[in-house]
Amino acid sequence: MRVIRTVRLRLVPVSSENAGQLWEMLQQPDLRAYQDLPNLGRNAFAELVGSRPRQLVPGGMGRFEWMVKRARSRDALGWVSLRIADREANAGEIGYSILREHRGRGIATEAVRALLGEAFEAAGLACVQAFCVPDNLASRRLLERLNFRSDGVLPHGATVSGRPVNVLIHRLERSSWVQSGKTMEMPASAYPA
Ligand SMILES: CC(C)(COP(=O)(O)OP(=O)(O)OC[C@H]1O[C@@H](n2cnc3c(N)ncnc32)[C@H](O)[C@@H]1OP(=O)(O)O)[C@@H](O)C(=O)NCCC(=O)NCCS
Repeated sequence: MRVIRTVRLRLVPVSSENAGQLWEMLQQPDLRAYQDLPNLGRNAFAELVGSRPRQLVPGGMGRFEWMVKRARSRDALGWVSLRIADREANAGEIGYSILREHRGRGIATEAVRALLGEAFEAAGLACVQAFCVPDNLASRRLLERLNFRSDGVLPHGATVSGRPVNVLIHRLERSSWVQSGKTMEMPASAYPA
């Protein structure tokens, strides 16, 4: 996994060394309102992260996660993830969360766009999926803005607060992503040093 840079952000791979910083964010209760997050202690979480694959390559499988940071800051604003469970389907599933105090400034839009580039190019996927509960309007608007199309409902597709919930399926095909101009691709000269 590599550090992914955008105009304002750095997406830093999560490893067992920096997993504690992600674990701290996971403790914020409002992040669990619409999604199921791991309920592990700090050390167990770092161990789990350490067991994940380190390279995102075509054909690779597993869970890949990045912390979202401003280009020149060590503080984490949130995280994004890519899970590749079924290589035959050539599809992956993304996840994303931004801490409350940093929302509404386009951080998720910018970070997830960069994540899509990684999913389609580095991982060579044909399709990216995202699941969210119907009440999560911020997440639905984000996916619409990124050209995902809705693809029905998966009954009991997730567990939120210990209860099974229906989730909306959203899909973005590689071809739609290419046609939309892989929006937000930046020349290397635009990156902060
Ligand atoms: C869903 C979530 C990740 C969105 O994060 P965010 O950083 O606030 O998202 P953005 O800032 O990119 O978009 C939010 C709004 O800011 C606006 N915005 C402000 N500045 C912007 C900019 N420079 N570029 C793009 N959008 C901008 C967007 O238009 C958008 O408005 P809208 O929601 O009315 O359409 C966030 O609400 C979250 O973490 N929720 C809790 C966890 C969660 O539910 N995760 C998803 C589980 S499926």
